[in-house]
Amino acid sequence: MITEPAMPGDKLRIGVLASGSGSNLQSIIDRCADGSLAATIAVVISNVPGAGALERARKAGIPTSCIDHKKFADRQAFDREVVAALQIAGVELVVLAGFMRIISDVFLEAYPQQIINIHPALLPAFPGLHVQKKALEYGAKFAGCTVHFVDGGVDTGPIIIQAAVPVLDSDTEATLAAKILKEEHRIYPRAIQLIAEKRLKLVGRRVVVDPPLELAATAQHNPALD
Ligand code: GRF
Repeated sequence: MITEPAMPGDKLRIGVLASGSGSNLQSIIDRCADGSLAATIAVVISNVPGAGALERARKAGIPTSCIDHKKFADRQAFDREVVAALQIAGVELVVLAGFMRIISDVFLEAYPQQIINIHPALLPAFPGLHVQKKALEYGAKFAGCTVHFVDGGVDTGPIIIQAAVPVLDSDTEATLAAKILKEEHRIYPRAIQLIAEKRLKLVGRRVVVDPPLELAATAQHNPALD
């Protein structure tokens, strides 16, 4: 349980929500520790008792809270409890990292444009679940991952950053998922750092980095051109 009130500080206070093993959480913990991410993980919340993410947080000395969605009558009641825990911890940015719950209006209204998610596909292709398998079966030549702001849809919010990985004939669902996950661990802390630096502006549904970063300027081909 979270008992301490939030203390004001310089660093962006983030709350990480995770249902699974928490490898993305770990990449955020590691970047906070090495100083490349100017954020404080104020709390880690899971809806799954025994989730690996909770153990990773405890090892790093981060406050945790387990809020089991099965104990709530409906989605809104569960979200109210999660939002209360985030607010008590003084969270400014909500980071969904493998959080297997759909967010309700309660959440979106409490944290407008302050919730981000990572998805293991190149959105808008392959929203939803089992997307590495879907990309492989579809025959896509590139797969990847996307960090995006969360809106009322499923994986539909404005895109912050993407990483593309080539799909090889030899890939299985497992090898493709592993390649994508490696890139997730690189782009998620980077996206949070851009938010911490207040460098993201929403223009329509386009996310613009200001001052701009060097953009990927070369096309990639798979299979390669002669
Ligand atoms: C990641 O593939 C993420 O993109 C998806 O759920 C998975 C979580 O993995 N939303 P982990 O718990 O961070 O290892």
